[in-house]
Amino acid sequence: MIEIIPTKDGSHTLRNTLLNETYHSIYGAIQESTHVFINNGLEYCVHSGNKKALTILEVGFGTGLNAFLTLRKSIELNIEVEYISIEPFPVSEAIWKELNYAQGAEDKQRFIQLHQSPWNILTEINSHFHLQKIDKPILQVALPKLKFDLVYFDAFAPEKQPDMWTIQVYQHLVDAMKPGGILITYCAKGQVKRDLKSIGLQVEALPGPPGKREMTRAMKPA
Ligand SMILES: C[S@@+](CC[C@H](N)C(=O)[O-])C[C@H]1O[C@@H](n2cnc3c(N)ncnc32)[C@H](O)[C@@H]1O
Repeated sequence: MIEIIPTKDGSHTLRNTLLNETYHSIYGAIQESTHVFINNGLEYCVHSGNKKALTILEVGFGTGLNAFLTLRKSIELNIEVEYISIEPFPVSEAIWKELNYAQGAEDKQRFIQLHQSPWNILTEINSHFHLQKIDKPILQVALPKLKFDLVYFDAFAPEKQPDMWTIQVYQHLVDAMKPGGILITYCAKGQVKRDLKSIGLQVEALPGPPGKREMTRAMKPA
């Protein structure tokens, strides 16, 4: 079962009661997504590569929060984003309609568009943002090779869903990344970093969001 719970920054997250696992940090869902995926992923990628257009792969669409924050940032940075997001267990409309991420009419409309866009079809949300949501498990998706500048790896924690944190999954993602592409995750587990290094990535530990000491950024050699 899925339930909505508040986090410490006031933004909602979801709890999967079977796994007893939340979709975001309980210290702040928006705070965590912004720190990990937007600031250390998207902004880093855009500024270090001086990019005007970006392809992003997300593992775990979930609430749509990362997609929503990326859409907003793409407008602010005046860049074009193609965003492919994988989610085998879509959140129901009854749940996503209650989430409090969007403020104001324009934002609310954008959030609804992200959720109502059709599955498995690349769809224009606006001139800055194209979205394709895919409703299959990541290993069942035939990802295009060498396509992505950035991967948001936002699976449930290794303790809760160990089959997502395997070399087979990492290699599947790396094959889909461009040389110089970045994989970003909130997870800072030693084994995860060692496994990413073992398949040739350059791995950095970065300060985590409030409540978490570290997070991980990994680059595929150019
Ligand atoms: C930590 S939550 C995602 C949070 C999401 N990015 C958000 O902002 O709400 C992990 C997500 O991974 C999804 N998931 C579970 N198994 C998966 C699989 N095999 N492939 C891709 N996603 C999976 C879950 O359903 C869940 O939505």
